Amino acid sequence: MIRVGIVGATGYTGVELLRMLSTHPNAKVSVVTSRAEAGRQVSDLFPSLRGVCDLVFSDVNPDELAANCDVVFYATPHATAMHHAEALLARGVKVIDLSADFRIRDQATWEKWYGVEHASAHLIPQAVYGLPERNRAKITSADLIACPGCYPTSVQLGFAPLLEAGVINAASLIADCKSGVSGAGRKAAVGSLLCESADSIHAYAVSGHRHLPEIKQGLGDFAGTEVGITFVPHLTPMIRGIQATLYATLTAECDLQALFEARYKDEIFVDVMPAGSSPATRTVRGSNVCRLAVHRPQGGDTVVILAVEDNLIKGAAGQAIQCMNIRFGFNEAEGLSLVGLMP
Ligand SMILES: NC(=O)c1ccc[n+]([C@@H]2O[C@H](COP(=O)([O-])OP(=O)(O)OC[C@H]3O[C@@H](n4cnc5c(N)ncnc54)[C@H](OP(=O)(O)O)[C@@H]3O)[C@@H](O)[C@H]2O)c1
Repeated sequence: MIRVGIVGATGYTGVELLRMLSTHPNAKVSVVTSRAEAGRQVSDLFPSLRGVCDLVFSDVNPDELAANCDVVFYATPHATAMHHAEALLARGVKVIDLSADFRIRDQATWEKWYGVEHASAHLIPQAVYGLPERNRAKITSADLIACPGCYPTSVQLGFAPLLEAGVINAASLIADCKSGVSGAGRKAAVGSLLCESADSIHAYAVSGHRHLPEIKQGLGDFAGTEVGITFVPHLTPMIRGIQATLYATLTAECDLQALFEARYKDEIFVDVMPAGSSPATRTVRGSNVCRLAVHRPQGGDTVVILAVEDNLIKGAAGQAIQCMNIRFGFNEAEGLSLVGLMP
């Protein structure tokens, strides 16, 4: 049984980690942190965890984490894990960061998009990008895992088969993405108020979103060359879920359905739907699955990929647990055998 710490356990991804790890046969949460809720019972703040979790939130203390944990998840805003990672790694503790601190290989690019100086840039080269469908082998020995963002997961899984096969024009991709409001986290913010986010949809960060450099880096890895992409995120009036509608121009003939099915036949958390399908975010709500469908409208040269995922699970906490399972040699699906909620 490994001992797990969760820094930022009062946030949406943190409480999802707690919920899913409560069913894990090989992992037990031993430390949960929150600066604002230190001293409070977890089950007092989250009655959904009554009878499941008897821990008390504590303030963030890297020494306490190192002494009581084999692995620590950072479910915190960016520019948090980068201050603690070195101390934990030095004491043999694995770090799985759900934030962006170690996702981008180029320090200057990261600093430009996140607006702060990186506090432990020397650790960036040893971080492994936690997308199992690309980096499973590297994750098995990684001490520092940088989990992908929610949009980047759906966009990369959607485009990957086409980029690997070299059958699309990688210079002009389009990702039109929609996210539920939980993507913004649990902090109080006007844009997340019911009256501001319900019954309406709008695009944001059209000229450039922080996930853009991560998406470009990840797609470039699949393509083996630099890619060009227009990425437009939208806020939609739902609590969870991401829908990514992806467009590319075909440059070679290929059986798209067969290509996608072959690429993901061994991936337990990527579901390629039958030809002609339109996956709904509802079908992955609460599960670690990214569900895909591939289309070629009117038999033309535009390929359209539809990808849905739960932003809090395959887009965050579920994928982080999947990485933990791979790193510690557990069954990859342990704690993650969750079927989407219906309705
Ligand atoms: N929400 C999503 O769909 C999603 C998807 C993929 C990735 N992510 C990433 O995952 C991370 C967590 O997201 P979230 O949505 O769960 O955030 P959240 O709901 O806003 O929760 C943030 C948590 O971090 C703690 N925290 C904040 N600042 C801290 C600091 N300086 N030091 C220590 N703890 C701090 C907060 O508790 P206290 O302030 O009480 O300490 C809280 O528990 C973010 O980096 C986010 O970008 C989120």
